[in-house]
Amino acid sequence: MAAAVARGWAASSLRPEAMLFTDSGSGRARALAEEVGGERLDSVADMADRSDVVVLAVKPVALDAVAPEIAGRTEGVVSLLAATPLDRLEPALAPTPVLRTMPNLAVEVGHGVICHTPLSDEVRSGVLGEALALLGSLGSVFEIREDEIDPATAVMGCAPAYIALAAEALIEGGVDAGLDEDLAGSLVSAAVAGVGQHLLTHEPGPMQRAIASPGGGTEAGLDALGERQVQAAFRAAVDASLERMAGRR
Ligand SMILES: NC(=O)c1ccc[n+]([C@@H]2O[C@H](COP(=O)([O-])OP(=O)(O)OC[C@H]3O[C@@H](n4cnc5c(N)ncnc54)[C@H](OP(=O)(O)O)[C@@H]3O)[C@@H](O)[C@H]2O)c1
Repeated sequence: MAAAVARGWAASSLRPEAMLFTDSGSGRARALAEEVGGERLDSVADMADRSDVVVLAVKPVALDAVAPEIAGRTEGVVSLLAATPLDRLEPALAPTPVLRTMPNLAVEVGHGVICHTPLSDEVRSGVLGEALALLGSLGSVFEIREDEIDPATAVMGCAPAYIALAAEALIEGGVDAGLDEDLAGSLVSAAVAGVGQHLLTHEPGPMQRAIASPGGGTEAGLDALGERQVQAAFRAAVDASLERMAGRR
């Protein structure tokens, strides 16, 4: 996820003055620094010492290992950690203020969704406010209550994977029906991008009805999806994500 944010910023007109990266030894930080134009550092503490803001993108289970190396060394932390509430983040990172966010992978291409918990006026006017403005260059920003973050994660953080799965199945269907794989991929990607734009101004129900003329091919396809309870399967995916996140707290 750190790579997605960094790639998004590298391509954005509003990018941080400098980007510093570290990892736990995989070499991904060095590769990313070379790719987007940044610097790879040996330790989390060194990175925190040299940063105005640390974007924390370790797995939630690694929070306790890295937090002591960041706390008090930087002016603010932007947490990307799923299912990790402020009442875990703040004591671990005190006295450094924390902004809890939930971005999705499309920040990489500047069309992400970034949810965050409410900011106090003091925090908003400091480095975390600036960091939030930088994140805003990577997509649409939503300030939501902290108790809304997990449900939001389930529908905007995890959901791109479900939509990518649907796209994969549609491409396979197109190939089975005789399309060249690259062509099928291009057609489905362009259609999915268009649906995303369309949904910004149209309700999903009427959109389905507008496409499915009675007796037509879309209607037959929607009936086939209904028979296989695809809508219930998507609802189950949201429930499963929420259950997993609740289990991690
Ligand atoms: N994936 C998503 O779409 C998404 C969306 C929203 C939020 N998130 C959140 O983003 C966070 C990262 O997820 P991910 O999928 O990107 O995980 P990931 O691929 O495992 O990346 C975690 C990174 O943290 C580094 N790291 C772990 N422990 C460290 C330590 N002690 N010191 C320095 N670096 C350390 C890892 O280093 P190595 O490279 O050496 O292993 C790795 O580069 C999670 O908290 C997740 O909830 C993910």
